[in-house]
Amino acid sequence: MQETLEVKDLCKTFKAKAGDVTAVDKVSFEARKGEVTVIVGPSGSGKTTLLYLIGSLESPDGGEINTFGENIAASGADLIRYRRRRVGFVFQFFNLISALTTLENVMLPMDIQAVPVSEQRSTAVRLLDKMGIDARLQKAKANRISGGEKQRVAIARAMANDPDIILADEPTGNLDSATGRVVVDILVRLAREDNKCVVIVTHDEGILEVADHSFHMMDGKLTLQ
Ligand SMILES: Nc1ncnc2c1ncn2[C@@H]1O[C@H](COP(=O)(O)OP(=O)(O)O)[C@@H](O)[C@H]1O
Ligand SMILES: [Mg+2]
Repeated sequence: MQETLEVKDLCKTFKAKAGDVTAVDKVSFEARKGEVTVIVGPSGSGKTTLLYLIGSLESPDGGEINTFGENIAASGADLIRYRRRRVGFVFQFFNLISALTTLENVMLPMDIQAVPVSEQRSTAVRLLDKMGIDARLQKAKANRISGGEKQRVAIARAMANDPDIILADEPTGNLDSATGRVVVDILVRLAREDNKCVVIVTHDEGILEVADHSFHMMDGKLTLQ
């Protein structure tokens, strides 16, 4: 299997009464498995839109997204399988289900994939242990834990179906700097130790420190950092 995620001439324009906004303007770049790619840019520069296009949560107007040999921007691509099996998302506001325990949050993506419950549970425990979420916290409701703990649970959830790509949108945006650092270190380990293709978009230039490759985004355009 090809080891790169390759984005070519990707475009997305939002139509609005006040005028069209080209959020992603002919963006091209490559990201590799085992490496951390960081895209830095100010608010409104198109980072979230770019990540959503790569994760197939938005559809592009043009361009290619070649994910390890499969162009998911092409018509006929199996987007449901791609979203569920090959991509894991980490969001700024965690997006956990607050009424469920942390363990149940991590089991959920496997449940959707019809993984047997005993296997869901053992995988979720293993991932949460790895993120430093202990047995007590695994039984806690997701709204009863700290921000840093929430983000570590969210990373475990993103890993649940063993995706190739981890897409993180402002993963430290809602954390203090020490907690943010722990979360960034975990994302780096997912690349180094688990061979994931990790793509982080952020306005936090501090994250550039851990990048194997970095880019700058401004007004929908991507340039090498
Ligand atoms: N669903 C949408 N409808 C209309 N405009 C949007 C939508 N999503 C994003 N935009 C616009 O696209 C531009 C880029 O937004 P976004 O990708 O969220 O940037 P960032 O994540 O860098 O802050 C902004 O001007 C934003 O207002
Ligand atoms: Mg954003």
